[in-house]
Amino acid sequence: MQAIKIRENIYWVGAIDWSMRNFHGYETGRGTTYNAYLIIDEKITLIDAVKAPFKDELIARISSVIDPSKIDVIVSSHVEPDHSSGLPFIAALAPTAEIITSAPNGLKGLTARYGQLNYKAVKAGDSLSIGSRTLSFVPTPMLHWPDSMVTYCPEEKILFSNDAFGEHFATARLFDDENDPDVVMYESKKYYANILMPFGKQAQTALKALGGLPIELIATGHGVIRRQSIDRIIESYKTWSSGAVDNRAVVVFDSMWGSTEIMAKAIVEAFASAGVPASFYDIKCNAMSDIVTDVFTSKYLAVGSPTINNQMMPTIASFLCYIKGLRPLNHAGFAFGSYGWGGQSIGLVEEELKAAGVEIVLDKIRLTNVPTADQLKSIADAVRSIVC
Ligand code: FEO
Repeated sequence: MQAIKIRENIYWVGAIDWSMRNFHGYETGRGTTYNAYLIIDEKITLIDAVKAPFKDELIARISSVIDPSKIDVIVSSHVEPDHSSGLPFIAALAPTAEIITSAPNGLKGLTARYGQLNYKAVKAGDSLSIGSRTLSFVPTPMLHWPDSMVTYCPEEKILFSNDAFGEHFATARLFDDENDPDVVMYESKKYYANILMPFGKQAQTALKALGGLPIELIATGHGVIRRQSIDRIIESYKTWSSGAVDNRAVVVFDSMWGSTEIMAKAIVEAFASAGVPASFYDIKCNAMSDIVTDVFTSKYLAVGSPTINNQMMPTIASFLCYIKGLRPLNHAGFAFGSYGWGGQSIGLVEEELKAAGVEIVLDKIRLTNVPTADQLKSIADAVRSIVC
């Protein structure tokens, strides 16, 4: 395991988690990286640790450059264990190193998790000279936890951005331009949708705080280091955090014996015939995190479920619970479904859509048993009426 030089005397020393497929419920089909950076200056500085099971990879990469005991400063940008759980191990190897964390939440969180270490809490505007370089600390609360902060090095024009601007994407090719740009951008959008969607206001505050800084590299906490797509990711964050949606539709459903699926097909075709591109997601066949990525920037959301034991299908309940937590902005939608008797699920879906902040633009569509041709025509007319 070798460090990889990204600038003179600055190295990537992180870890690649090729096999990670679930990040607290977010399905990560392409794995991830836990990025950490080593700066060789008068004060030898480590920016972030890695997830504890990968500590040996971190230590090996650092050791390929210097003896880890020589580290003077460790910047802990974020308490979440994917970045901090390796910290006590590296702190044990470098017991005199000062651990920089945000005040008050970083300090509180690290102390609660790892006990009393050699912490120094910093706040907005604080900076630290490490020799020929300066590190300036910028709090970015809720990107992704209350403690989060980023570090800017003006001499190098590097932003060490931790969770912000990153993506869950395992790659041994460190830089953005060494990877398929469409895959990287899809994973960035997926990361924003699944992790940061509820925090648009905080993202805009962070973008303002970082606005005007000359940036040549964004050294993220996950995924690629950006050198060619800096403007693209910053502009994307501006758009995503604004809640802007495209004139698209997402149709998500579960079906017991095919009738709700027939309705879903009719709804997708109706949207398409009205000039609104629509995605069709049988929830049994698609990862919820990918569906949410599509929902995030699609104006319309139609959700269907048959009724089972007076309830909606548990798969759809899970999806709606996830959506409710992510609080999508500027969405319009409706509920639909077929049932044999009772039919409570469709009303329950509609209520959950409302609770998620989706404006109900079409009364719930409820049918018994198998949809007839006339009923499908009525559904199509109703769907077209909300977009025309
Ligand atoms: Fe990458 Fe919020 O941790």
